[in-house]
Amino acid sequence: RTGRAAAAVERLTRWRDDFPTPGVRFADLTPVFADAEGFRTVVDCLASCGPDADLVAGVDARGFLIGAAVAASLGTGVLAVRKAGKLPPPVISREYELEYGTAALEIPADGIDLAGKRVLLLDDVLATGGTLAAAANLFTQVGAQVIAAAVVLELTFLNGRDRQGDYPLTSIVKV
Ligand code: PRP
Ligand code: MG
Repeated sequence: RTGRAAAAVERLTRWRDDFPTPGVRFADLTPVFADAEGFRTVVDCLASCGPDADLVAGVDARGFLIGAAVAASLGTGVLAVRKAGKLPPPVISREYELEYGTAALEIPADGIDLAGKRVLLLDDVLATGGTLAAAANLFTQVGAQVIAAAVVLELTFLNGRDRQGDYPLTSIVKV
């Protein structure tokens, strides 16, 4: 299952130097998700990372695409982990480090019973790991359990894996 997804990701990812800032090499997964075989194999692979999840969470913004598809595949609900300022209050917020300054991720503080939920947490790319760690932290703060996290692409040289909690973390392709 991983093999076909990994082949599609390797074949279709669009790499761009100096985006969004000089010195950064950007992995654009847009063509992977736009491809029928690529999207289906990626979604199947990510779904297999948390077969007993009862909620799938996707991180703003491309995590939404895979999060919704994986949730539909597993028969769970989906929760969008938003960048700061997008959700009405009350929210639970968690800051994380950017190259310059900080940003924050948020989930609703009411309206969803998250206590005890078994969450499969998804994003497109793992780089320094700050984004995924902050998202995971939101769920532990509300008494949910991140049973697994998964990303499409892991940039291993940035050591983002070292910043994660004790949940298993799967990446379809490691660079
Ligand atoms: C990118 C990517 C991951 C994050 C990984 O998102 O989609 O979410 O960076 O970086 P990290 O592991 O170093 O935290 P970005 O913040 O660029 O925003 P976007 O998803 O809204 O484009
Ligand atoms: Mg992102």
